[in-house]
Amino acid sequence: MLAARSVLRTQAQLASAARVNTVARALSTSSVAYDAKQRADSMQRVTVFGAGLMGAGIAQVSAQAGLKVTLTDVTDKALENGINIIKKSVARVAKKQQPDDIEGFTNKVLQNISTSTDAGAAVADTDLVVEAILENLKVKQDLFAFLDTKAKKDTIFASNTSSLSIGEIALKCSEERQTQFAGLHFFNPVPAMKLVEVVRTPKTSQEVFDTLLELSVRLGKVPVKCKDMPGFIVNRLLVPYLLEAVRMVERGDATPEDIDIAMKLGAGYPMGPFELLDFIGLDTTQFIAQGWITKAEEGLVPLDLIKPTDLMAKLVEQGKLGRKSGAGFYDYSSGKPNKG
Ligand SMILES: NC(=O)c1ccc[n+]([C@@H]2O[C@H](COP(=O)([O-])OP(=O)(O)OC[C@H]3O[C@@H](n4cnc5c(N)ncnc54)[C@H](O)[C@@H]3O)[C@@H](O)[C@H]2O)c1
Repeated sequence: MLAARSVLRTQAQLASAARVNTVARALSTSSVAYDAKQRADSMQRVTVFGAGLMGAGIAQVSAQAGLKVTLTDVTDKALENGINIIKKSVARVAKKQQPDDIEGFTNKVLQNISTSTDAGAAVADTDLVVEAILENLKVKQDLFAFLDTKAKKDTIFASNTSSLSIGEIALKCSEERQTQFAGLHFFNPVPAMKLVEVVRTPKTSQEVFDTLLELSVRLGKVPVKCKDMPGFIVNRLLVPYLLEAVRMVERGDATPEDIDIAMKLGAGYPMGPFELLDFIGLDTTQFIAQGWITKAEEGLVPLDLIKPTDLMAKLVEQGKLGRKSGAGFYDYSSGKPNKG
């Protein structure tokens, strides 16, 4: 009986200790989250590199969230292109969010955006750099290595790369900066797509990672956490799926039309794989898959999943890149997809 009571007492003590631990853990998590939220909320300036499709979108959602944005590119023409993309897109958002004062809404957002072709000056006083330039490892590495010498010590660096390793992009920066380096992977079109993959390398500090998660929420997005692996979450699953759909056609298993219908009606996908391939661009998908071959050799992704397909290579060679070129798996020359 005594022994039983003592066991009960020990169990009660253990339960009480566990409760204290749980509360301590909750407090420590909430204090980390609170600091990160405070840091994200107090950010004032963001510098976006690349005024193309993605950079323009990232600049727009940042400006809409009240951040002062410097949009940076290599030529004035590219910046003009970016500003035009933003103007059209903000007008669409204004129509929905502030239909009574479209001009007021648009002006307020545009007032938060300035442009620059001077990369060093553009980061001198910024809290965050988001890079959305062309998908080339060396070009990205060189840009970040230069920015590392120009930005404040605590400026966070982020890349929007779709297919490169964040850790490799950061490699030419100082060790200290590499702890403040992460991936912020937005989706196209940025103003409409809710998801952001926040990617951490083994060197990314917890505070920087948490701050970027909180910042994504401030930008009106839903963040997901991910390690620095080929394709992160979405492309890691999507690219092998798209390639296997092409292989099905190559093997004569089914037609693109039937596969698209099957995946829409059978799996509830909003687009079939061939409609999606034409939307993304066959060249883009092929480029991502080819880039992963070296990752497969390193054992980071199974080679069979991402082996290039002859059919897609042939279409890319013929200039059939999808919607943007007027034809891909389907023909768009009449304005509507011809699925003949
Ligand atoms: N397009 C997509 O659907 C998509 C989706 C998610 C992520 N991404 C990634 O976003 C990045 C940009 O893609 P995009 O589709 O916007 O490309 P894009 O070709 O539309 O724009 C790239 C811009 O970067 C500029 N640029 C090139 N080198 C530069 C430099 N050194 N400094 C400043 N600007 C420079 C170019 O002039 C161009 O304006 C890529 O890394 C891509 O993988 C693209």
